[in-house]
Amino acid sequence: MSQYMIETNDLTKKYGEQSGVFGASLHIKPGRIYGLLGRNGAGKTTIMRMLLGLTAPTSGQIRIFGKPLPGNETRILPHVGSLIESPGFYPNLTGTENLRIFARLRRIKNPEAIREALALVNLPYKDKKLFSQYSLGMKQRLAIALAIMHDPDLLILDEPINGLDPIGIAEVRDFIRKLCRERGKTIMISSHILSEIALLADDIGIIDHGRLLEEESLEKLERKNSRYIYLEVSEPERAGNLLAERLALPAADYEADGENGLHIYNMQVQIQDILPVLVQNGLSVSCAKICEDTLEDYFKKVTGGEGIA
Ligand SMILES: Nc1ncnc2c1ncn2[C@@H]1O[C@H](COP(=O)(O)OP(=O)(O)OP(=O)(O)O)[C@@H](O)[C@H]1O
Ligand SMILES: [Mg+2]
Repeated sequence: MSQYMIETNDLTKKYGEQSGVFGASLHIKPGRIYGLLGRNGAGKTTIMRMLLGLTAPTSGQIRIFGKPLPGNETRILPHVGSLIESPGFYPNLTGTENLRIFARLRRIKNPEAIREALALVNLPYKDKKLFSQYSLGMKQRLAIALAIMHDPDLLILDEPINGLDPIGIAEVRDFIRKLCRERGKTIMISSHILSEIALLADDIGIIDHGRLLEEESLEKLERKNSRYIYLEVSEPERAGNLLAERLALPAADYEADGENGLHIYNMQVQIQDILPVLVQNGLSVSCAKICEDTLEDYFKKVTGGEGIA
């Protein structure tokens, strides 16, 4: 069994030479919220459509629940809930009536399924309001209720907060979190808003121009991008090992960066304690400074542009 709920290898969908998705290897762990972050046109929807079997990859492999797709649709897809395009709800029916139609189509046996799904997204079960009278936020919540009504283990939600006001966004965020923490669901969401992903996701994949540039836990990304000491030093690997030994730095607290860079994330350590260790061991240090990057600075750096949010 794979340790991932979703795993892709070199997943590619070409819409011509320049657009689509190129060589994306994603790793989505069970019981976590994975945020796929990228600007408009980065390839988020294309990835999600391939994961749901809605469009065929040009090349590459997909495994969901450890099973290859295509090939296991009937074993995989009944356990996946999704919100990709807005579902075709009937405007002249209520939310509950709409869900009843979908429940029948999907042969959902649990008589409480509709009530439970509506409760989770804070929509009333007994309500005379027609879908055509729903606000945008209510429509979006009904679409999410539809995605979770069959109690799937894995949810794939494409920009679930699009078009919502701040209160609506906070509500959707709350119940996505609840689905993950209280019900153990694995959730993949996409967004072009960095601050939203940073508030919600446990793990983040950054996609730009169809390429997955980074995949990391939020915790690690934040650690990488808070305050750190930057050293420009000959032999940064050796420098890191020396500091680990002499100053009892755990391995997670330092990282070589490029040919001469060394980052030290542990701010208990002082620059004046570091320099003698390096110099006494014959290393030359040309720069030592304290840096402070925000997550946003980091995204700008990896996407090589003006940032995402
Ligand atoms: N059916 C298609 N035919 C041709 N090109 C397509 C098709 N679908 C997507 N593309 C192109 O592939 C690229 C990725 O599109 P995609 O919709 O996956 O991006 P996205 O990250 O979801 O963007 P958005 O934030 O705007 O929803 C874009 O350049 C888009 O124009
Ligand atoms: Mg999209």
